[in-house]
Amino acid sequence: MATKPKTTSQTSGTIAEAKGKLGIMIPGMGAVATTFVAGVEAVRKGIAKPIGSLTQMGTIRLGKRTEGRSPKINDFVPLAQLNDLVFTGWDIFEDDMFAAATNAGVLEKDLLEQVKPFLQSVKPRPAVFDRHYVKKLDGKYVKKGKNKMDLAEQVRADIHDFKKTSGAERLVMMWCGSTEIFLKQTEAHSSVKAFEKALLANDENIAPSMIYAYAALSEGVPFANGAPNLTVDLPAMHELSRRNHAPISGKDFKSGQTLLKTVLAPGLKARMLGLSGWFSTNILGNRDGEVLDDPESFKTKEESKLSVLEHILQPELYPDLYKDFYHKVRINYYPPRADNKESWDNIDIVGWLGYPMQIKVNFLCRDSILAAPIVLDLVLLMDLAKRSSELSGMGIQEWLSLYYKSPMTAPGLYPEHDLFIQTMKMKNTLRHLRGEELITHLGLEYYD
Ligand SMILES: NC(=O)c1ccc[n+]([C@@H]2O[C@H](COP(=O)([O-])OP(=O)(O)OC[C@H]3O[C@@H](n4cnc5c(N)ncnc54)[C@H](O)[C@@H]3O)[C@@H](O)[C@H]2O)c1
Repeated sequence: MATKPKTTSQTSGTIAEAKGKLGIMIPGMGAVATTFVAGVEAVRKGIAKPIGSLTQMGTIRLGKRTEGRSPKINDFVPLAQLNDLVFTGWDIFEDDMFAAATNAGVLEKDLLEQVKPFLQSVKPRPAVFDRHYVKKLDGKYVKKGKNKMDLAEQVRADIHDFKKTSGAERLVMMWCGSTEIFLKQTEAHSSVKAFEKALLANDENIAPSMIYAYAALSEGVPFANGAPNLTVDLPAMHELSRRNHAPISGKDFKSGQTLLKTVLAPGLKARMLGLSGWFSTNILGNRDGEVLDDPESFKTKEESKLSVLEHILQPELYPDLYKDFYHKVRINYYPPRADNKESWDNIDIVGWLGYPMQIKVNFLCRDSILAAPIVLDLVLLMDLAKRSSELSGMGIQEWLSLYYKSPMTAPGLYPEHDLFIQTMKMKNTLRHLRGEELITHLGLEYYD
């Protein structure tokens, strides 16, 4: 006799309505940020479609396969609507979003012209910036302060100002700034108290991205991290996030090569095919590529890109298949390609009786075109988390792992990198929030 799976998910929580405007605050108004904002405006005007965005195009199956219930995600959970989004940001360059988007060269002139007045209205605020943390950049549009706490207070004042002038009911901060040098967790990050002391003492272990995050979380504003920077992956930030009901998530958008890696590697593992080596290389010519040309920033990105295979393949469980595979990731700055990154993956796999085979992947992608819908989904879902009584005090939003190369998890918990597990986790979280049955795909009941 078939067993009935235990899938009922009683939610104890409530979700507040998405009333009024949602203010999106973006440190780093470069290629990704401008492609996102220009895209939202283009979609609002009916010029283009939000392709790549799960919140705008995705559906969610509810109940049994025989029930035929698959509402759009956007109808199933109360998300902010695109017409309710308002924007601000910070950058070390004074360009408004139209000038920055033109400079980034991702979107065609024709499209940009159609959203020009709107983009021109989004102007950056002076940044918290220090070249020590991003060696390849130098800009003059930078805040001055007597110490890092003073700078954090200036960002908090920006948050108040934006809320007032935009009329936003709720806010989300989304880091789209550059990749900073590789930093490790230290005593300065161990608690909110230690962090505040370190801010006052201008401690070198506190990078600009952490100052924005501290300001946002102190104001109860959710913070999502699109770069591989340490930023909120710290005990002090976890504490602040939980205390102030300001959800956090990160890190590093999973947009191109790593997205495909987390699709292919689970496939190999599902069929118990071995791996002896995976060589990934990229050419990229945008400003992000230039920043990553600095070895210290590259190290931050490298760590983020390298971690996925180990966790998916679990060599400790499958030593015959995955012990000692060679994994290399390279990013080469190559200006002629600008944002149109090209990546090559050579994958040496091993089959029946140890016979070697090869897979080649050549992805001619557009970096910011892949990242922009991730930004849209993240800001809407982080706002949802903030309005959910169950999620808002939880700190890390692990259910948003599918958007990140290095998903944050509770301390001591290994991250899930497999895109299909991540997607199931995300959709089951939404089902749970709405008190719907979780879907396990067991399906024995169809054969009762
Ligand atoms: N597919 C993708 O594009 C992708 C994928 C994963 C991660 N990322 C990360 O997203 C981030 C943005 O990528 P991008 O292509 O837009 O880069 P970009 O260089 O075009 O934009 C980054 C912007 O941040 C600004 N900036 C740097 N430090 C700042 C600070 N402290 N305060 C305010 N502004 C600051 C820079 O001046 C620049 O305008 C990078 O960290 C990148 O590594 C991008």
